[in-house]
Amino acid sequence: MASSWALRFAALLSGALALLAARAPTCPDRCDCQHAQHVLCANRGLRAVPEAPARAPTGDVLVFSLGGNFIGNISALDFGRYRRLTRLDLQYNRIRALHPRAFAKLSRLEELYLGNNLLAAISPRALHALGKLRILDANSNEISAIAPDSFASLESVIKLRLDGNAIETLQDAVFKGLANLLYLHLESNALRHVHGNAFATLEKLRFLNLSDNRQTSLSDARTFAPLASLSTLLLAGNRVQRVGNGVFQNLRRLRRLSLSNNSISALEPEALSGLSAVRQLSLDGNRLSAIPARLLDPLERAETLDFGRNRISRVDPAAFRRLAQLKVLKLNDNRLRSLAGEALGRSGALQRLDLSGNEWACDCALAGLQDWVRGAHARGWLLTVFVRCRHPPGLEGRYLDYLDSSQLQGAGNLTCAPRGSAAERPAGGAVGAVQAEPAQRSELPQQRHRPLVTDACHFNRLLLANVTSDRATPTSAVIRWGVGGGIVSGERLEIRVRYDRFGPAPSFPRFVYVGGGARRVTLRELEPGSAYLACVEGVVGGAACEVASREHCVGVVTLRRGRGQGRGQGGGGGTLQLVTAAMLAANALLLLLVGGAWAGRGLRRRLQSRKSAVHVRHMYSARRPLRAMATDAVCGDFTAYQTGRPPLRGGGEGDLIQFPCDRFLDNSGGNRRDDAMQRFQD
Ligand SMILES: *[C@@H]1O[C@H](CO)[C@@H](O)[C@H](O)[C@H]1NC(C)=O
Ligand SMILES: *[C@@H]1O[C@H](CO)[C@@H](O)[C@H](O)[C@H]1NC(C)=O
Ligand SMILES: *[C@@H]1O[C@H](CO)[C@@H](O)[C@H](O)[C@H]1NC(C)=O
Ligand SMILES: *[C@@H]1O[C@H](CO)[C@@H](O)[C@H](O)[C@H]1NC(C)=O
Ligand SMILES: *[C@@H]1O[C@H](CO)[C@@H](O)[C@H](O)[C@H]1NC(C)=O
Repeated sequence: MASSWALRFAALLSGALALLAARAPTCPDRCDCQHAQHVLCANRGLRAVPEAPARAPTGDVLVFSLGGNFIGNISALDFGRYRRLTRLDLQYNRIRALHPRAFAKLSRLEELYLGNNLLAAISPRALHALGKLRILDANSNEISAIAPDSFASLESVIKLRLDGNAIETLQDAVFKGLANLLYLHLESNALRHVHGNAFATLEKLRFLNLSDNRQTSLSDARTFAPLASLSTLLLAGNRVQRVGNGVFQNLRRLRRLSLSNNSISALEPEALSGLSAVRQLSLDGNRLSAIPARLLDPLERAETLDFGRNRISRVDPAAFRRLAQLKVLKLNDNRLRSLAGEALGRSGALQRLDLSGNEWACDCALAGLQDWVRGAHARGWLLTVFVRCRHPPGLEGRYLDYLDSSQLQGAGNLTCAPRGSAAERPAGGAVGAVQAEPAQRSELPQQRHRPLVTDACHFNRLLLANVTSDRATPTSAVIRWGVGGGIVSGERLEIRVRYDRFGPAPSFPRFVYVGGGARRVTLRELEPGSAYLACVEGVVGGAACEVASREHCVGVVTLRRGRGQGRGQGGGGGTLQLVTAAMLAANALLLLLVGGAWAGRGLRRRLQSRKSAVHVRHMYSARRPLRAMATDAVCGDFTAYQTGRPPLRGGGEGDLIQFPCDRFLDNSGGNRRDDAMQRFQD
């Protein structure tokens, strides 16, 4: 009985083995043929293309993968039997030699991957049969020259990778035959000579990467002329010193042009002509010294311009006048001492402006830029613009945003003309780049008779003062402020009080808007026994100022609903309330700052928890005299707070926030009427 079972088992086993044996010879040694049409031999340590067994149905195979082996030669016979192959992967081998007839039978091949081998050349004959080829990768080999007619029969190829080789020269019509090519990678070669006719016939090409080569000049207007469909041209990391007139003039569809990291010291006046579709132009990392008036005019649709890391000291006020769609402008790490506010005046779409790392001289000549930046903040255009003064010595390290006009005025030899009144500026270039050309001025009629206060930042900074709170009840509090005299405003003026619970709870700000003549509001429907922060700011012509409101905030603590009392806590409660208010306002200042554009959320959370947890609790428990406490704990603490910007060199005073202690101590009583208030529902 047992032996019969054993016999049966043996029979079964041998049957299975026979089946396996019958199947095995159809697959080359060491390969995987689970899918009948795919022969997978990647990473098998192969030193040559494995031979298929005689009976193997190689005629059905579509995909042959041999990547990551040690194959050194491809002979004429290796792929002779794979006539229907559509994809052949030979990447990451050690192929030095390709037999000229290696692919002769592969007339259906669509993808050929030869990247990361040791090929010194591709013989034109080797590619001759590949009329259906769509992708040819020969990147990262040792190809130093491309023979004429190499690609003559490759009319279906849409992507050609030749990057990472050692090609020095592109000869006349070297890509002839590639009539359907869309993507051409030539980056990271040693290209120095590009024949004026090298790209002839590439009419459909969309993408050309020539970065990281050794070209020294772009001056032959013929070179790129055939590339009428090109949308991306990358020329970064070459050695280009000069860009000649009209070299890009036929590139009417070009959207992205990179000339980063070259040695360009001058662009000829018409160098960018024809680039009317360009959205992104990178000229960072060059040696440009100026941006002259008409150079950028062809770039009507530019959205991103990068001029960072050059030596630019002059930007013509009219340089960007045609760039109505400009969103990102980088002028960082240059040698600018001054920049006309008018230069940016028309770039209404600007969202990001990088002016860091320059040699800004903070004097009258920068007043126009300061105005422009503040106006942009007020409209919510820009979140961060760092203009940090390098000159004069007294203002070194300070940020332009935080200087007022008297500081700018005192700094230079010039007397500042009244802000914005172009007609009164000294004539004859006395203010350098700020001086607009007469033609420019007539384009900007608004600026000529500008009233004194045209934006909310000015209003907040110059006129709004003495913000206080009083009359807190469990559910309401009065906020008061003063407005300096002499407002000449052509714009509609309103005042907005923003208030919110103070503390770690999610922010839920509410707003009260009152007319420009109001001097107080009553906040209602507050939570009893809670801390609030209220900030007062001007809204001029419908726009608020995003940067300056921190100077006009005050803390409020509503009274607890108490036992045995009408309202309020009585006794020391008033004092406590005030102290807390001062403390809170101080904390709130932080919050505002941090909640502003400069810092990330992490920082906000950290500061919030640290400040409010430690100090507020402390204030509640200790009843010390008000003034001493406020001065020491609040003001001392706060003036030391940085804005979250990078630390100053040499520990200068920089942008320490000047905290107006007195504002929180002034709690004089006053008028109860609050008829001016309007409630703004969230
Ligand atoms: C490649 O072929 C050449 C001659 O065709 C021969 O000398 C060489 O040894 C072969 N190399 C390998 C790795 O088979
Ligand atoms: C172009 O080539 C450069 C240099 O090799 C490379 O860094 C960059 O990623 C390439 N760009 C594209 C889009 O292929
Ligand atoms: C240009 O050079 C800078 C600094 O070396 C580098 O960070 C940047 O990636 C380069 N840009 C391009 C497009 O190669
Ligand atoms: C002020 O004028 C003096 C002498 O004309 C000059 O040396 C100095 O550089 C000027 N200062 C500024 C800030 O322009
Ligand atoms: C603010 O208060 C000070 C001192 O009471 C006063 O001199 C000044 O005029 C006030 N400012 C405004 C704008 O009300």
